[in-house]
Amino acid sequence: MSEWTRTFGVGGVLMTTFFLASAAAQDGNGDAAKGKTVYEENCALCHLADSEEANIGPGLKGLFQWEAHTLSDGTEHESHTVELIRDQIVNGSSAMPPLGDSIAEEQMNDLLAYLQTL
Ligand code: HEC
Repeated sequence: MSEWTRTFGVGGVLMTTFFLASAAAQDGNGDAAKGKTVYEENCALCHLADSEEANIGPGLKGLFQWEAHTLSDGTEHESHTVELIRDQIVNGSSAMPPLGDSIAEEQMNDLLAYLQTL
């Protein structure tokens, strides 16, 4: 194998890895890094990101792995799916204001991607 082929071969593998990684990031159509900013602007006031400890609302660490439980207004959160969390953000609950109007669709996807990293 010539030096050129070897270099190209390694480059090819790196390129493939890069494309696979970016495809995975696009799966939920969201950019977690941008989502962090959305979180800081809209959620950090009431929710800690690095623990489950309550501030005004519960800390959201590991949110998507949480056990089934019931919110203060009786809403059942059986499994914490992306759809359920999106619904919670858009519509709020008795103790959380609805934020659907202040977060655009693209920002919402970024935010949901970020929340999945907690
Ligand atoms: C004004 C304070 C406030 C803001 C701002 C706020 N929340 Fe909440 N949030 C709460 C409270 C309080 C609860 C608990 C709701 C309940 O038990 O009824 C809650 C509950 C939640 C839950 C449900 C967790 C569970 O128990 O399953 C999620 C998810 C959530 N918030 C995400 C967000 C996100 C994401 C944002 C930003 C876009 C946000 N919240 C902004 C106060 C807030």
